[in-house]
Amino acid sequence: MLQKIAQLHAEIETLTATDAEAVEALRIKYLSKKGLVSALMNDFRNVPAEQKREVGQAINALKTFATDTINALRENLNAHSDDNVGIDLTRTAAPLNVGTRHPLSLVREEIIDIFRRLGFTIAEGPEIEDDWHVFSSLNFAADHPARDMQDTFFIQRSPDVLLRTHTSSVQSRVMEHTQPPIRIICPGRVYRNEAISARAHCFFHQVEALYVDRNVTFADLLQTLDYFAREMFGNDTKIRLRPSYFPFTEPSAEMDISCNICGGKGCPFCKGTGWVEILGCGMVDPNVLEACGIDSKVYSGFALGMGIERITNLKYRVNDLRLFSENDVRFLDEFVGTH
Ligand code: DAH
Repeated sequence: MLQKIAQLHAEIETLTATDAEAVEALRIKYLSKKGLVSALMNDFRNVPAEQKREVGQAINALKTFATDTINALRENLNAHSDDNVGIDLTRTAAPLNVGTRHPLSLVREEIIDIFRRLGFTIAEGPEIEDDWHVFSSLNFAADHPARDMQDTFFIQRSPDVLLRTHTSSVQSRVMEHTQPPIRIICPGRVYRNEAISARAHCFFHQVEALYVDRNVTFADLLQTLDYFAREMFGNDTKIRLRPSYFPFTEPSAEMDISCNICGGKGCPFCKGTGWVEILGCGMVDPNVLEACGIDSKVYSGFALGMGIERITNLKYRVNDLRLFSENDVRFLDEFVGTH
């Protein structure tokens, strides 16, 4: 009997199977009620009493060995099968690290979208500019401080080649080759010779808007500003204009919106005033129209310019300008899922 068991053990050790059917056939051959191992159990009755203990243990061990071997053959087949057996289709998918849109891109798109709804189209210009488009055509006086090396990055002097300090340069480029009606929005990067800190950077982003046509008035500007502020910061947003000065607009103004953090009650962000400045604007100076070849007796226009960083700070409360250009994933990840 023990010999028979040993024989079967050796036989089982060499078993192989190439498909599920073969494994099942082995299970039936050895482990079913009429199988070889079960047959041993039936013979167990005839084993002399003094051997029962030893033979019993051997049969049990053989049964376990046969079960384990056949199960292993089955698992091995599953692991190597081509279909999805063995893959857990209910498991949560591993997270896909998709990138995020940069907050400045998000806000730029939002600004463009608002102006697009008013019929403005995008215009772009070069970042490396000449004096004419950045300063002279825009009515800057010869001794204006922006023309100084301390404020502007010059690549070359006489003739001057420089990094544009504002997107107003796109105004003059478009007016030079387009007759009104002109309704453009110009997003882009600008450069100024500033020490980098939380509140200033040597490059940042602006959006310029220009509208030139017959009979464009300050009321049109006001209406556009009001619409923009409410679309961008919510319908309850109030605007106020303060007289200001820019060489290229007359009259000029700076626009404040009611602080969208405290709702105008006064908080540290608005320094207790309830208002925050967001952009510069005005009626295009006739000198600028003329310099660009547009008849200022027939046409008038308004222009406005804003910093995208500033709008982003207000919208997302980013209070250190440097975060925008450091590419710190911890910062960028905060905008996951923002559209
Ligand atoms: N160019 C100005 C700046 O960089 C912003 C600006 C102010 C643009 C008034 C305009 C405007 O078009 O009308 O500070």
